[in-house]
Amino acid sequence: MMYSEKVMDHFNNPRNVGEIEDASGVGTVGNAKCGDIMRMYLDIDPETKVIRECKFKTFGCGAAVATSSMATELVKGKTIYEALQVTNKAVMEALDGLPPVKVHCSLLAEEAIHAALWDYAKKEGLEIPGLEEPKADISEEPV
Ligand code: FES
Repeated sequence: MMYSEKVMDHFNNPRNVGEIEDASGVGTVGNAKCGDIMRMYLDIDPETKVIRECKFKTFGCGAAVATSSMATELVKGKTIYEALQVTNKAVMEALDGLPPVKVHCSLLAEEAIHAALWDYAKKEGLEIPGLEEPKADISEEPV
């Protein structure tokens, strides 16, 4: 299996690892097959709806670490509406690709962002056009 230099960089030196206290939105998702779990924290400016800070914790494979790291970098500075453009494809492109068996890892990153945005929208009574309710809320799982 071959990983790009960018994947290796984000795996060895992941950006934005950790938690945000009193986060605006938190989303936790998992993949039942591989058992990997990812949690995203968003700090959102209440006025401008810009994502000021994004942190993650991943209990998962190296590609899951690299994709969540890249996803946090891509959503930072975007509005909650623009953040929907950070799809798994966008994350993979930014990482110069992933091996086919690792594509689901990047999907986990997209789902985690969506789950955190959904959590925020629900709390604020907002609608984010194009955002769908996450399939499963596994926020009770330990990460
Ligand atoms: Fe499951 Fe990577 S192997 S997230």
